[in-house]
Amino acid sequence: MALILGLESSCDDSAAALVTSDRVVLAQAVVGQDEAHRPFGGVVPEIAARAHVEQLPGLIRRVMDEAGVRPADLDAVAATAGPGLIGGVMVALLAGKGLALSAGKPLIAVNHLEGHALSPRLADPGLDFPYLLLLASGGHCQLLEVRGVGDYRRLATTIDDAAGEAFDKSAKLLGLGYPGGPAIERLAREGDARAVPLPRPLVGTAEPHFSFAGLKSAVQRAAVAGIYAKADIAASFQQAVVDCLVDRTARALTVSEAPTLVVAGGVAANQAVRSALADLAHKHGRKFSVPPMWLCTDNAAMIGWAGAERFASGLTDGLEAPARARWPLDEAADKVRGAGVKA
Ligand code: KG4
Ligand code: ZN
Repeated sequence: MALILGLESSCDDSAAALVTSDRVVLAQAVVGQDEAHRPFGGVVPEIAARAHVEQLPGLIRRVMDEAGVRPADLDAVAATAGPGLIGGVMVALLAGKGLALSAGKPLIAVNHLEGHALSPRLADPGLDFPYLLLLASGGHCQLLEVRGVGDYRRLATTIDDAAGEAFDKSAKLLGLGYPGGPAIERLAREGDARAVPLPRPLVGTAEPHFSFAGLKSAVQRAAVAGIYAKADIAASFQQAVVDCLVDRTARALTVSEAPTLVVAGGVAANQAVRSALADLAHKHGRKFSVPPMWLCTDNAAMIGWAGAERFASGLTDGLEAPARARWPLDEAADKVRGAGVKA
């Protein structure tokens, strides 16, 4: 049994967690920065980085104390090394390096996307490789075939905005504040999803790529038109995103023979998304797996778990491991217009 400390600070959540290779989360702590970023309607990188410097050391101490673990008890220290907001990424990575150095333990430089991609296996011991993963978060919207630890084939990505980004931008247009996903989901419950005609960009096209920029612009037009209730716009928008995710994933299911469909990332915390993808998997005769909601949004348990998976495969890193703003999971994937510009 290996014991891994996971550290995360690549966006606006500071997090630390202690995870074992037999899927036990001994302790974990996450501190978000929603209040700090709310006035700006989105994450301000400089504010995020400074907040991580203040928060992360206390979180490390808290989880170590809670679990009664000393640095000498660890098998390795896993820290997110990218992709993300570079100032923030450097905080957890350097904290991880310091701990690894002082305790004489190996460092594991984890790709944040790999954290999301492997997180379903922390919650679901029956989830074997390969699986088809819809990874939908604030910075990414991709369909990946997860074939093994460190073995990912990207089938599709977004050509403009990520799904979570569309939630955040639309919420801002509707004056719902940040983060937009949970706010839109709440308001959508009171609205009519058929009330506002909104586009489903790229739906029906052969390649399973995503696009959400046009949807956001349509939300803007609906918001200024002054004839729709906000709840109806929220519900119609959420339905449009769900329809896009379902259509694109259905397309990928015609390409991938993986027996299980998995959805992860912050947008997978959305109930409408979860149930629509579960239905889709059922319709295509595939198994379905989705992590619990706390494991969908950014956290350090998924980083510790990805560390445990890499550690078991003998994949550790030197102390010179770089912080990377951009770090695709599938380095061989074709460049798609607009893709990769987001962290
Ligand atoms: O995975 P995550 O925590 O951070 C990134 O790696 O980006 O994802 C955050 C994104 C945000 O855009 C947020 O609005 C969205 O996930 N999100 C949701 C929900 N909860 C978080 N989107 C829709 N419905 C939700 N309930
Ligand atoms: Zn994330």
